[in-house]
Amino acid sequence: MTPVVNYEVQGEVAIITLNSPPVNGLGFKLRAGIMNSYENAINDAAVKAIVITSAQKLFCGGADISEFGTEKMNMEPVLPTMLPVLEESPKPIIAAINGFALGGGLELCLACDYRIALPHASLGLPEVKLGILPGAGGTQRLPRLIGPQKALEMIVSGNPINAQTALDLGLIDHIFKTDDFLTTAIEYANQLIESKAPVKSCADLSVDIKDLPNNFFTDFRTSIARRTKGFFAPERCIQAVEASIELPLAAGLKKEIELFQECAVTPQARAQQHLFFAERAAGRIPGLDPKMPLRDIKSVGIIGAGTMGGGIAMNFANAGIEVKLLEIKGDALERGLKAIRNNYEISAKRGKLTSEKMEKSIGLINGTLSYDDLSDVDLVIEAVFENIEIKKSVFQQLDKVCKPGAILATNTSYLDVDAIAAVTKRPQDVIGLHFFSPANVMKLLEIVRATHTANDVLLTVLKTAQRIKKTPVVSGICWGFIGNRMFEPYGREATRLVLEGATPAQVDKALTDFGCAMGFLSVIDMAGIDVGFMAREGIRERLNHDPSYQVLCDRLNNLGRFGQKTGRGFYIYEGRDRLEDPEVIELSKTTAKELNISQRNISDEEIVERTIYAMVNEGARILEEGVSYRSSDIDLVFTNGYGFPAFRGGPMQYADEVGLDVVLAGMKKYQSELGEHGKNWFEPAPLLEKLAAQGKSFKDYQA
Ligand code: 3HC
Ligand code: NAI
Repeated sequence: MTPVVNYEVQGEVAIITLNSPPVNGLGFKLRAGIMNSYENAINDAAVKAIVITSAQKLFCGGADISEFGTEKMNMEPVLPTMLPVLEESPKPIIAAINGFALGGGLELCLACDYRIALPHASLGLPEVKLGILPGAGGTQRLPRLIGPQKALEMIVSGNPINAQTALDLGLIDHIFKTDDFLTTAIEYANQLIESKAPVKSCADLSVDIKDLPNNFFTDFRTSIARRTKGFFAPERCIQAVEASIELPLAAGLKKEIELFQECAVTPQARAQQHLFFAERAAGRIPGLDPKMPLRDIKSVGIIGAGTMGGGIAMNFANAGIEVKLLEIKGDALERGLKAIRNNYEISAKRGKLTSEKMEKSIGLINGTLSYDDLSDVDLVIEAVFENIEIKKSVFQQLDKVCKPGAILATNTSYLDVDAIAAVTKRPQDVIGLHFFSPANVMKLLEIVRATHTANDVLLTVLKTAQRIKKTPVVSGICWGFIGNRMFEPYGREATRLVLEGATPAQVDKALTDFGCAMGFLSVIDMAGIDVGFMAREGIRERLNHDPSYQVLCDRLNNLGRFGQKTGRGFYIYEGRDRLEDPEVIELSKTTAKELNISQRNISDEEIVERTIYAMVNEGARILEEGVSYRSSDIDLVFTNGYGFPAFRGGPMQYADEVGLDVVLAGMKKYQSELGEHGKNWFEPAPLLEKLAAQGKSFKDYQA
């Protein structure tokens, strides 16, 4: 077995090379290996300096997250005890950073005396994204080295900085542009030995606060309040950095551990770590060989230059991929191209891209009115009106003009991809690519694997999703796929609760207090009540089962109250204000009376349980039917596409955390308490009943 650490001595320099693929995660073995090597170096009188570097393409991805919550995490040596030992080393230690140094990986570097890096190195403390804070000195040593402002920014955002910024901030000592970094690092170490460069310890430094503005921490808290609402860890990160100013290093490290432990045991930490692994699992498709040859995607055709087509085009252009954008009429094409330019200009004005990059991207998007121009594209994405007949006719034309092997995708939100594929002679090349609006911003890409979709088509689009920086999740065929299918029962309950006596603002507030980015009724006012009305056309038969909840939406639609775009929907819109509308409350009262629904006071707890449990129950059906490969895929859909709070890890993780027995009991309670509505819609999914009876969670379920 290859050792996880290589140790060698060259002249007066000991070299400790981390070699634990894939990311040099600082698990027990690697920690122990580093300390054994360190002791060898200290005990060897010939060694005058130590270099720590990596045999992998990155330096170190930090603590081994898979050890969290296990015994291994606490097996000595642990980072908080080993890093002070390295820091107090009598011989200088040089961290030679050849790539990513993240979390505990950067904390390891901070405990060294000198830090050198390759130009592409990237340094960061991303712990906050895992619901925790840097727990091995990051919050204490980083402010001592680069000042509290920059340190706080890095720790609370979790975003890494590049080598040049690290050099400018004094986080690293040198950048070396070299093909033989190890030789350079050894030469650097020899120079330190020769010049008798001192060993350094952060314990000798205090945090420089001379330029710190008054009320810095209060202002910082205010500035991040909206972005971090509901998250537990960011505030603890701030407290830890405050401690770095107030306390000597040893006491600050103690405080940091206390705060780290507070975070580590929260459901939020489990939820955010669940999402980290969920993202990586989503690309693994059972039964598919990830090494199979892929199709080459160099150019893309997009049909329809409306809201979605334009945004989708921008994704590809941003990734340097040529786009041909097709419309039926010249004026629609012109409008679409103008909207794209406008979007880019707004981003450029906000400083998000240079005008050079903007022009380059715009230059990659070319409009056309002729299908013949799509004869050589590698991938086509159709984004025309949500109407099966129009989509079928588009695919018939694509079948005629596109080259063999081109991938033909539809951006449909609800329609049957198999039915669309069936009008072509190449159903194996057809797939759903469901982008979310605004398509150039939203991370989620639902990939709909149709019955005949070829394996290499699926894998090619998964890889392409990464190229355009999306989070792909694979769904099987069903009405609305994973996301919109589960969003329907969620919306059904939100709307029905208004009929039962809650106001739209109360429903939405309960949901935003739960952590959702927006409440459901605000969401559909934004998306368009008319759009929802049309989407329901495909499931009227099922809805007629109990039409009560949709009546309110249908009536608003028939009144021409489509939401924000008409100034009125569930709310009245005045400028940027969203106001409760007495007419909607009155409409809910009269409609409820007509439908024999008695109105009552409804608690926020009921609002959350009914909306979320109804959605989870549908998720259980989706899992059992095999529409989704794993519950964590469903969680990615909701946290990346529907504003579900990341700190709850998605609806399925939330249900696992609450306990499936509790969710089941809730379903049964509403099934019996809500009359006809309860009987129709709160029937527990068989998988929920089965897992709850076995004391298991959705995470345990393997299709
Ligand atoms: N622990 C355990 N496993 C990890 C890991 C970690 N810190 N980082 C990555 N992995 C695993 C991934 O799960 C994946 O496993 P898989 O192949 O079985 O799915 C594999 O390593 C490769 O990861 P990626 O696919 O993400 O590889 P990339 O090359 O695209 O990215 C990376 C590498 C930039 C290091 C990225 O993996 C990453 O951002 N990792 C997390 C970094 C992080 O959050 N570190 C902080 C950890 S907490 C900590 O250090 C606490 C300390 O303060 C005490
Ligand atoms: P849109 O109405 O903004 O744009 C549709 C465009 O397609 C129009 O510009 C129209 O001129 C063009 N078009 C119509 N028929 C055409 C044809 N035969 N050939 C070429 N162009 C044609 O619609 P939007 O919102 O962009 O939706 C497009 C698709 O994306 C729909 O299937 C919709 O369900 C889906 N979608 C929409 C989302 C949204 O939030 N708007 C989110 C996710 C998917």
